[in-house]
Amino acid sequence: MTRTLTIDGKAVTARDGETVLECALRNEMSIPHLCTHPNLPPFGACRMCLVEIDGMRGYPASCSTPVAEGMRVQTNTDAVRRLRRKTLELILLEHPSACLVCDKRELCERYRPKAEKAGCTTGCHTCNNKEVCEIRVLSEQLNLAALPVAPSYREMPIERSDPFIDRDLNLCILCGRCIRICEAHHDEATIAFVGRGSKTRIGQAFGRSLVDAGCRFCGSCIDVCPTGSLSDRYAKWRGKPDAVVETTCVFCEAACALSVSSTRGRISGAKALRGGVPICVLGRFALPEFVNGVTRLTVPSVRVGEVLREMPWEEALERTSRKLKQFTGNTFALVCDTTSTLEDRHLFERFVQEVMGSAHYIEIEPDRRGVSRAGLPDGVKAALMTGAFVESAELDRLDFLIVQDCYPTAISEQADVVLPAAVFAEVDGTVVDGDGHFRPLRQAGKPPGQARAEWRIVTELAGAMGAKGFDLESATDITRELGTAEAKLLPERGAAPAAAAKPGNRRTHFRGHRIDERVRGVRYLPVDNGAVPVTAAGG
Ligand code: FES
Repeated sequence: MTRTLTIDGKAVTARDGETVLECALRNEMSIPHLCTHPNLPPFGACRMCLVEIDGMRGYPASCSTPVAEGMRVQTNTDAVRRLRRKTLELILLEHPSACLVCDKRELCERYRPKAEKAGCTTGCHTCNNKEVCEIRVLSEQLNLAALPVAPSYREMPIERSDPFIDRDLNLCILCGRCIRICEAHHDEATIAFVGRGSKTRIGQAFGRSLVDAGCRFCGSCIDVCPTGSLSDRYAKWRGKPDAVVETTCVFCEAACALSVSSTRGRISGAKALRGGVPICVLGRFALPEFVNGVTRLTVPSVRVGEVLREMPWEEALERTSRKLKQFTGNTFALVCDTTSTLEDRHLFERFVQEVMGSAHYIEIEPDRRGVSRAGLPDGVKAALMTGAFVESAELDRLDFLIVQDCYPTAISEQADVVLPAAVFAEVDGTVVDGDGHFRPLRQAGKPPGQARAEWRIVTELAGAMGAKGFDLESATDITRELGTAEAKLLPERGAAPAAAAKPGNRRTHFRGHRIDERVRGVRYLPVDNGAVPVTAAGG
């Protein structure tokens, strides 16, 4: 049922169940607010959204007042402006606020060098806040250009003892958003208000660490924090993002929709696209660190004598194709797993059948931990592998091994050719989720060095071998050739994926690589029915 009311003299129609604030914002009318958030139920704690409503006593909080038929709301009277300013001044008594009232703040915004300013919190250049500082927006809305009393700095050490999240309680304004999103997203919240009176702060019961308190490391608390009190330890040092791409996580079959940011072409952060339900620690925190690892394969190399020698792509492919021509028919096998895109796998299969004339296209479905293992068929003497899928002992019977991968492994060290592959959000393509739906993978950052998309490597290898019909220019060309249905992101899902509900459910491997060898923080998290985690994390 719709209702009609007036806000600042303008007649507006409210939707069923809307609050005054929601109705005003939907009608493009501004009411300052702070503790409320679109992904959270109203809380009414900060009192920034006070309004006057005819017939109601006092100054109700618009974020928690439901609309009613015929309601007359005033959002900008002298009295509410004065109250809001006083309230913000009180909030700022314990919040470093130099940058909120500094007359150079415009410059600071323009030249900010990082995604989130990082470090300690007493000055305008060292605040830990995100791209948009909600406190600053509010102080501008309320024309707050000076503070009546100097703020007191709490002098609390920055908490860095848990993986992935830094917590700077000197910036916290106790709005409670982090606690409320933790309660909304998980059966049992990890964090709560602890202490009393002026000693109240955000923390875990009994002083436990986030890991010991069962944190799922979904990062939702960071996403809703308005002050930068909570920050993503890795992402904040990657530089201010200059592009954001909507894509799909390929760490597991849940295929969560992600918003992946990049800075000067390198992936610098990832988070849930919408935030209605949490994503798992791998999508939220591990992805950027995994793709930016310093040991990524970046240059093709071919074994010359006893050593793998780096060389340009053209030369590497030419040498590879010359050798590969000796292994046509069933002496050749290609082994990949389903973390490669549909387009990559289509090209792999075509390469095996049309170029090599072999029946040995081996595609592995990773197990629930992400482990992909296969054996090589009898008679195979040459193989191309896109990960560490085969026991090292099996490789002894091969005369020629090509590894196309993102990181070096014991297998790539034995290979005759190593080709650097782009992965995750470095490529375009289509992945298939656990329910069989097509999800798009969109390139959000440049691959490192000379690494290339897997389909491109195979088309160029086919070209070097003189094969016809592999002159495809983009992943889209292959999607068209495949004729699959349109891939769509999954921005909202009914429930959190298993690994987001419980970090112990997450995958531990990607293409034969242990994720915790590439992403340090992951090794401190429990794995159900598996390894016991390390008990303490360093900063
Ligand atoms: Fe309404 Fe905080 S936004 S009380």
